[in-house]
Amino acid sequence: MNKAWKTLMAHANDCRTRPISIAEAFNTDIHRFERFSVQWDDLLFDYSKQQITTETLKLLLDVAEAAQLSEKISQLFSGVRLNESEQRAVLHTALRDSTKAPLWVEGENLKEEIGLIQKKMHAFVEAFQAHKKLGVTGAPLKHCLCLGIGGSGLGPTLVCDALAPYKTGDIQVHFISNIDGETLDTVLKKLSPEETFCLISSKTFSTLETKENALKVRSWFEAEFSSKNINRDWMALHWGAVTAAPEKALDWGMSDVHIFPFWPWVGGRFSVWSSIGLPIALSLGMDNFKAFLSGAEAVDRHFKETPFEKNIPVLMGLLGIWNINGLGYSTHAILPYADALKRFPSYCQQLEMESNGKGVDKQGRPLAYQTAPVIWGDVGCDGQHAYMQLLHQGTVVVPVDFLVPVRSRSAHQDLQTLLVANALSQSKALMEGKEDRVTPLKACAGDRPCSTLMFSQLTPRMLGSLLALYEHKVFVQGVLWAVNSFDQWGVELGKQLTQALLPRLTNDVQSSNHFDDKMDSSTEGLLAFFHRHQGSNEQYEGQNSTGYRRDRGDWHRDL
Ligand code: F6P
Repeated sequence: MNKAWKTLMAHANDCRTRPISIAEAFNTDIHRFERFSVQWDDLLFDYSKQQITTETLKLLLDVAEAAQLSEKISQLFSGVRLNESEQRAVLHTALRDSTKAPLWVEGENLKEEIGLIQKKMHAFVEAFQAHKKLGVTGAPLKHCLCLGIGGSGLGPTLVCDALAPYKTGDIQVHFISNIDGETLDTVLKKLSPEETFCLISSKTFSTLETKENALKVRSWFEAEFSSKNINRDWMALHWGAVTAAPEKALDWGMSDVHIFPFWPWVGGRFSVWSSIGLPIALSLGMDNFKAFLSGAEAVDRHFKETPFEKNIPVLMGLLGIWNINGLGYSTHAILPYADALKRFPSYCQQLEMESNGKGVDKQGRPLAYQTAPVIWGDVGCDGQHAYMQLLHQGTVVVPVDFLVPVRSRSAHQDLQTLLVANALSQSKALMEGKEDRVTPLKACAGDRPCSTLMFSQLTPRMLGSLLALYEHKVFVQGVLWAVNSFDQWGVELGKQLTQALLPRLTNDVQSSNHFDDKMDSSTEGLLAFFHRHQGSNEQYEGQNSTGYRRDRGDWHRDL
C-alpha cells in the first residue's frame, strides 16, 4: 500500500470512529453543493450527499495521482495492451470516435476498419427498414430475432427498451439471451419463419447459451421450410452474425453479406458501441445509433480532458473507493427514476462486477482489500415499496446512485415531476434520517450516502453518455485496485463444470470421462431429485432420456 492509500485509510479510520454527519456538513458549509457537484452538458452530478469532507476528496485525488491515473487514461485511448492477461488493447472508445484522426495500432488504422463496418451496418439497416430484405419465399423480412447473452445481449436490449420512443420504421426486434424453452416458445409464437431474420451476436461464436438457442431456432426454420419443400439456401437469407470470429459464422452457413465483424480489442461488456449495436440501429435507425455513440464520445472527451476534481467518472470511481474501502460499504444500488431505465442496473451489474470482481492483482497476487461492490437496483418509485425500508432503517448501509430525468418523453410531465419529487425526497431522507426519542421504531439513522445524476431527458445521446460514465468509473476503480478490469476468468469455472455435469443429467455415458465419478453429496442429491422428477432412470443406464442430443456440439452447417 503506497503512502497516499495509507493516509486515506488513516482518515477513513478517523471517520469510522467519529462519523461525518452529512446533514451537519450542509449546515456548516453553505457552499457544500457547489463544492461537491459538477454540471456538464445537460447533466448534473451531485455528490454532496456523500459522507465526505474536502479532506476526503483531496486524499482520494492523491490516491488517483499515486496510481498514475492520468497516464493510464492516455494509455486506454492510445491502444496500449491494458488487458495484459489476454494481451489485448482495450479500444471500445475508438468505436465512438467520430473524428477524422486515424488510430494506428500495431500497423493498422483501426478507424478505417471501424468506418467500413459502420457503413455495412448502415446499408443493411436501410435495406431492412425499407423492406428490401427478402426471405426465401420472397416475403419481406419484418422481424429480427437477436440471440446473444452477457455483453452480447444486455446492451442492445437495454438501449432498445430505454429508447423505444425513438423507434423508426416498423421492423420488430426481439431478444433471447437465456436458455429457457418457455421464453423461446413465447417469442417464436409471435414470429413466422418466412418474415424472420435471426441474428447471432457472439464475440466468440461459441457461447453455450447462444449456440443452443441458435440450434433450436434453426430447427424451427427447418421444420417450416421443409414442410413447404423449400430447399433453397434459406440460411444465407434469414441468418446473420455479429462476431469477432467471422470464420465460424461462415462455417455455420451464413452469407458473408450478413456477417458484421468486430474485434478482439472490444471487450464483451464494452461492445454495445460496435456491430453488437446492430439491433439498436435496426430498431431506432442509424442516426439514433450515431447519436447514442456521440453521447459516449462526449464523455470520452470529458474524461480525457477535465481535471480530476471536476471529472465525473473519476469522481464516481473515487467515491466508490471511499465507500467500499474507506467506510466498508460493500454493496451499491443504482436506482433510476424512469421505467425506461429498468435494465440499467443489470447492465451496470455486468459492467462493474465482471470487470472488477477480482481477488488478485494483475500479477495474480491476492489482494488485501475489497474490490467491486455488489451492484443491484431497480426503478423508483417501485423500489420505495420494496427495498427502500432496508436502505433507511436496515443494518446494512447501501450507497445509492439516483438517476433522474427532468423531462418526460410523454405528455405526462406532471407524473415525471412526481417521480423527481420522490427521488429527491428519498435522497434527502437517506441523508438526514429522523430522530424519534419517543418511538425509536420510527427513527431513521440518516448519514446514508448517495449521489444523484440528474439529466435533461433520456435521449439517445444522453443514454450513450450515461453508459460511458459508468464504463469510465469502472476503469478508474480498476486502476486504483490494480486489477485487470478486462478479463473474466472466474466465469470459466462454471462453464467447465456445466460441461462435466451435463452427461450426468442426460445419462450420456459415452460423452463423459467422469461418468462414474461420485460428486459431492449435495450435487448427487440434486441429481437424484432431478432424475426422479424428470421421469428418467435413476440408475444411469446410459439411456438418454432427456431428449438432449449428443451431437449438439455441432456448430457447423449440417442442414
Ligand atoms: O459472461 C462471460 C462472457 O464472456 C461475457 O464477457 C460476454 O459478454 C458473454 O460471455 C458472451 O460472450 P460471447 O459474446 O462470446 O457470446
